[in-house]
Amino acid sequence: EKGGYDYFMLKEIADQPDAIAETLLGRLSDRGEIILDEVRLTDQDLRDVDKVFIVACGTSYHAGMVAKYAIEHWTRIPCEVELASEFRYRDPILDRSTLVITISQSGETMDTLMALRHAKEQKARVLAICNTNGSTIPRESDAVLYTHGGPEIAVASTKAFLTQLVACYLIGLHLAQIRGVMYADEVAAVVEKLQSTPDSLRTLLGQMEDVRALARDLKTASTVLFIGRHVGYPVALEGALKLKELAYMHAEGFAAGELKHGPISLIDEGTPVVCVVPSPAGRGVMRDKVVSNIQEVRARGARTIVIAEEGDEGVRAYADHLIPVPSTPTLLAPLMTTVPLQILACEIAAARGLDVDQPRNLAKSVTVE
Ligand code: F6R
Repeated sequence: EKGGYDYFMLKEIADQPDAIAETLLGRLSDRGEIILDEVRLTDQDLRDVDKVFIVACGTSYHAGMVAKYAIEHWTRIPCEVELASEFRYRDPILDRSTLVITISQSGETMDTLMALRHAKEQKARVLAICNTNGSTIPRESDAVLYTHGGPEIAVASTKAFLTQLVACYLIGLHLAQIRGVMYADEVAAVVEKLQSTPDSLRTLLGQMEDVRALARDLKTASTVLFIGRHVGYPVALEGALKLKELAYMHAEGFAAGELKHGPISLIDEGTPVVCVVPSPAGRGVMRDKVVSNIQEVRARGARTIVIAEEGDEGVRAYADHLIPVPSTPTLLAPLMTTVPLQILACEIAAARGLDVDQPRNLAKSVTVE
């Protein structure tokens, strides 16, 4: 049932191209428009939205962080992301024109469920992004968009994360479309890129041998740092979370621009720093800034593991280890850049002789607050 893989996690990582394709299936018209008939909120309800909150935990929260960039960019509606466990205790400002989106693989996470109940009490509209049909969170929500990732068995979330991103992109594009913020051809252009991600991911998954070798090298590191900017920042947090939960190693993710405000002191001779580099497409300003952050950590002795777009030859000089990923538009890049980090964490844990699918102290579904 592991389909020839040693762990469910590796199988689920390999399933990601199909999981994305399934999540897109039936949600795009021939003209490249988004059809979300299952979202039981009327177009008028969605036109009235003046604020979006995304609430989730753990990896699902990281999907929400990525979604904020896409939703605000495409719809121009203010969007906040919050940890579900913090949300209701700070008395957030919610009303009928607030859309609260929960993201949960299991649909049973108690923190997320309690946040949703709080939002409903305050009369906000609640939309669930969920991977588990008929689970509690979608049942209690006004609307649901299911991710069609299929069952996820490994405790660490992988394909659920990528399909959550896809669902968030669909919602963002749908909102932009019905509110007339994006022209049909602009939506269609993004949709076309989304549709090509499964093939790009298959190519990427075929090039991961080097990451396995790297994992064997890193298995004794005392800490691993991850840096990224813009959507690469939540990817850095996700890479660090995966490594903590699977390999029981100290790992931390930072916004690359924050390094100089403190964390750069952590860099010592040989400290591994995984750097998520934005695409050089467009003006490439963000990419250049991250490259200078890489130079800064390297000058202080860091061993740099650089995840960058194929063809970005300029980064090679600063990379002790370069992991190229297929080119994707900036907002969609986490669909690519996350994958080597999932494999790295999985392979480091395996190299340390740990139970990859069932890390200690963790449960697949967290039904306590
Ligand atoms: C990490 C992981 C957890 C979950 C979190 C939320 O790999 O799996 O951080 O993402 O417990 O779970 P769901 O998405 O089921 O609400």
